Amino acid sequence: MTDVSPLCRVEDIPDAGAHAVRVDSATGGFDLVLLREGAAVFAYHNECPHAGRALDYVPGRFLVKDRRIICAAHGASFAVDTGACLGGPCRSGLFAVPVDVVDGWVRLKEAA
Ligand code: FES
Repeated sequence: MTDVSPLCRVEDIPDAGAHAVRVDSATGGFDLVLLREGAAVFAYHNECPHAGRALDYVPGRFLVKDRRIICAAHGASFAVDTGACLGGPCRSGLFAVPVDVVDGWVRLKEAA
């Protein structure tokens, strides 16, 4: 079962920036990158589809510019709002994880 406790506060994510969180689960958990554009928050697995490396250049520090997140390993870039591959060696987009914001808390969205 996945931990459904809040991931962080919205203000923990810099506007037009990124924040790393770890989600614990009975199967070992996973790392997410949370990206923010104003009130909108987007979440993706912190794993690049090019070669499976983490997107951050040091743990928790990401390159985000012009509404793109750029993988620190080989420079693939992805749209902040969709995770789509926009350039570089990626052939597919980031793996999105649904989240919502309730009372300023970012949470994993529960399956319908
Ligand atoms: S692992 Fe991300 S661009 Fe190569």
